[in-house]
Amino acid sequence: MSVIDLKVEKLVTGGRGLARWDGLAVFIPGAAPGDHLRVRITGTHRNHATAEIITILESGPHRTPPLCPRFGVCGGCQLQHLTMAEQRRLKRDVVVDSLARIGRFDAPPPIPEVAEVSPMWAYRRKAAFKVRVVRDRTLLGFHQTSSHRIVDLEQCPVLRPELNALMQPLRALVNTLSIRARVPQLDVMVGDTGIGVIVHIIDPMSDQDRDRCLEFARMHHLARLDVQQGRKDRLVSLVQQGVLAYHLEGMTLKFLPVDFIQINAEGNINLVARAMHAAGKGGVAWDLFSGIGNFTLPLAKRYEGVAAVEGNRSSLDRLRLNSRKAGFLHTHTLQADLFSREGLEALSHLPTPELVLMDPPREGAVALCKHMGQHRPRRLIYVSCDPATFGRDAAILGHLGGQLVAVTPVDLFPHTSHVELVAVFDWQ
Ligand SMILES: C[S@@+](CC[C@H](N)C(=O)[O-])C[C@H]1O[C@@H](n2cnc3c(N)ncnc32)[C@H](O)[C@@H]1O
Repeated sequence: MSVIDLKVEKLVTGGRGLARWDGLAVFIPGAAPGDHLRVRITGTHRNHATAEIITILESGPHRTPPLCPRFGVCGGCQLQHLTMAEQRRLKRDVVVDSLARIGRFDAPPPIPEVAEVSPMWAYRRKAAFKVRVVRDRTLLGFHQTSSHRIVDLEQCPVLRPELNALMQPLRALVNTLSIRARVPQLDVMVGDTGIGVIVHIIDPMSDQDRDRCLEFARMHHLARLDVQQGRKDRLVSLVQQGVLAYHLEGMTLKFLPVDFIQINAEGNINLVARAMHAAGKGGVAWDLFSGIGNFTLPLAKRYEGVAAVEGNRSSLDRLRLNSRKAGFLHTHTLQADLFSREGLEALSHLPTPELVLMDPPREGAVALCKHMGQHRPRRLIYVSCDPATFGRDAAILGHLGGQLVAVTPVDLFPHTSHVELVAVFDWQ
């Protein structure tokens, strides 16, 4: 493949650099704007090419040395080579671009600078370590970029220290198990009250394996250690000597190891505060894709009635418990698949909302957004972790008369290309 010298114009979605070569757009991972690079073309397509960096001939003004020695190989982070200011500029640009290009908004509201959320390192409180035994060596870490190969890691600078401290001991634990070649993944999570581990297994554990896990949990003072063979609902708890929970607005949100939690504690406080600022106070609010109640409980402080809708039964059980513990009698729950017709129809049995807050998974919520024409809340707050699907859904809400009045990107995942945002739509 050709080796050429290029100047990087700017960064695009995913944090790749964009340069031009022979009329083609060339996308280069790990590039920074203004970099002068010698690259190898790795693929050519009809109107673009991909390339990898051979040498940095001259660094652009926003390049900074990455903290992690495995940056560029490990698929976890994409932006460590950029200053924080440049990372945030890129994230804002991604939001602006998806509103213009995907949402086709002619006059979107002004998008503010991405606010800084501290800490910028050691923030990640949940992770899935990939595990593989290769020639008697246990590899534990994350997938390589665009590959299922495992980058064997000692430390990860975006992980919370409590989880970093477990990496080596977990590797040693797997090494002692009779089924060590049948342990593809370890999930780790840390709340404000303790640490949890899920050992994923393909074959059943022996009694000895179980004893080793019990011993590990005791030695490392884990709140819980669970074993999962297959689906999430087949979780078997080996140790429960504490609870997993985090605190928010003075309330306690308990969670199970399989429940969704926002992975950046400080970032989450910021995100919820922004959403609550937009929510104000009122009569009835719906929290759609509610999880364990991360937005439901704060809404319950501000609204006379809150309906939480979620597909995962375990998360809803947790939400009910969390809500009762906080002393709320005015929260109601509905288990529904919000991607299905039946799930959307079930919404019409809920009291009419003044406010709808939705926080869908990455794929967004096309059908739900189309359905919002029937409900037309006074205000809809859309919390998104994917600006592209948000751009698409925002256009649907716009066609239904929702006026997009604010979009605020929040930097929940420093050093990665992930972008979170809070958007507000109003109906007259
Ligand atoms: C991005 S998380 C948000 C959770 C919660 N709002 C929070 O901040 O912690 C998305 C949630 O949507 C739920 N979910 C995913 N697909 C769903 C579906 N088809 N119907 C209903 N809920 C779904 C997941 O279980 C998860 O709890």
